Amino acid sequence: MQVKKLVDLNVTGKRVFIRADLNVPQDEAGNIVEDTRIRASLPSIKYCLDNGAAVMVTSHLGRPTEGECRAEDTLAPIAVRLGELLHKPVRLIRDWVEGGFEVKPGEVVLLENCRCNKGEKKDNEELAKKMAALCDIYVNDAFGTAHRAEATTHGIARFAPVACAGMLMGAEIDALTKATESPARPLVAIVGGAKVSSKLTILKTLAQKVDQLIVGGGIANTFLLASGHRIGDSLAEPELVKEAQAVIDIMKARGADVPLPVDVVVADEVSALARANRIPVEEVGPHDRILDVGPKTSAKLADIIAHAGTIVWNGPVGVFEHNQFAGGTKMMASAIAHSDAFCIAGGGDTLAAIAKFHIAQDVGYISTGGGAFLEFLEGKTLPAIAALEGRFND
Ligand code: 3PG
Repeated sequence: MQVKKLVDLNVTGKRVFIRADLNVPQDEAGNIVEDTRIRASLPSIKYCLDNGAAVMVTSHLGRPTEGECRAEDTLAPIAVRLGELLHKPVRLIRDWVEGGFEVKPGEVVLLENCRCNKGEKKDNEELAKKMAALCDIYVNDAFGTAHRAEATTHGIARFAPVACAGMLMGAEIDALTKATESPARPLVAIVGGAKVSSKLTILKTLAQKVDQLIVGGGIANTFLLASGHRIGDSLAEPELVKEAQAVIDIMKARGADVPLPVDVVVADEVSALARANRIPVEEVGPHDRILDVGPKTSAKLADIIAHAGTIVWNGPVGVFEHNQFAGGTKMMASAIAHSDAFCIAGGGDTLAAIAKFHIAQDVGYISTGGGAFLEFLEGKTLPAIAALEGRFND
C-alpha cells in the first residue's frame, strides 16, 4: 500500500485539515465514557502543532441527519476533552464548510460534526471541493471510518492540494498488513460475538488463511449446532448452520481446525444474578443458555494461543460483562498477555475485554477500527485508503 505520510511532509505554516475518527461512546448526559480514539488521534495533531501548522480537525459523531445538528450530535464534549489532552484550548467551529474562520499557525480548532453537512454521506463532490479549499494538506487519520466513502474520508482526498495518511492511519495499515500478509505461523483467529450473520464474510475469509479458528459466543453456538450438539435455549442462528458447516469444511480441507467447546457455562438467564453451572457440552438441557466456555475448553484455547505465532482477535467467547460468565474470555486474555505471538485486536467488545482484564500493554496492536478492522482483514479495499493511494504520485 503506497500512501504519502504526514511525517514525511513539511507542514510549517501550512493549513492542515485532519479527518480523525473521534466517534467515542458517551453516556446519556453526553459525557465521554471511553476516549481511546481521541488519545490515538493526538500524535498527528501534536506533530502538526509542534511544526507550526494551522490545524483543523474534524470527525463524525454518531449518525446524525444531514442538515441538522442536534444537541447530541455536537463535538463540543470532544473539543473539551481534546483541549485537556493537548493542554490548550480547542475552539469548536460551527458552519465551517464555506470557510470564514481564522486559525493561526500553532493553533488547533475542531470543526463541528462533519456528518451534519449535507452531502457528507453521499460523498458529494461540490462539498468535497469546498472542504479541500480550506487546506494546503489533507490528512486522513480516521482508520475507524476508512471503510466509508464519504466527503471527508474520500472526496476531499481527490481535491486537496496534498493528501496523506496521518500517524494513526499509518500505524493501523502497518500492523494489519503485518498480521495478514506475512504472519508468523501458526496464525490463530478468535472471532466471538453474538451472530454468525454479522461476521460470516470474515469467518469465510479467515477460514482460507488461518491455522486455528476459535469461535465464541452466539457464533460458537451456531457452530455447535452444525456439529450436531444440542444447545438448549442458547442464542444461535439455526438458519446459518450450513454456512457454519461450510467454514468447518474449508478449514478441515486445509488440515486446519475449528476447536469447539467441550464444556460450557450455562444459566437460565443473562443477568448479573444468574446462577451459573459448568457442564460438559453433551449435557446442555433444553432450558439452558450457554453463556461462556467451561474450564476445560478455556485451557485448550489457552494452549492454542500459547503456541501461536500471530493472533487476530475480534470478539469475546462469553458474556464477560458478568463475572460468572467471564472465565473463558479472561483466560484467553491472560493467554494472549503471556504469549510471544504478535496479537492484533479490534472491535468495541474486544477493547472492553482488554480494558476489563488489564492487558492493553501486552497486546501487540489494538486497532481503533470496528467495521474497518473487519473489512481490512476480509481483504476488502477500504475507500479512504484507496483515495490516498490515488494521490501517492502527485
Ligand atoms: C465506528 O464507530 O465503527 C466508526 O466510527 C464508523 O462509524 P459508522 O459505522 O457510523 O460509519
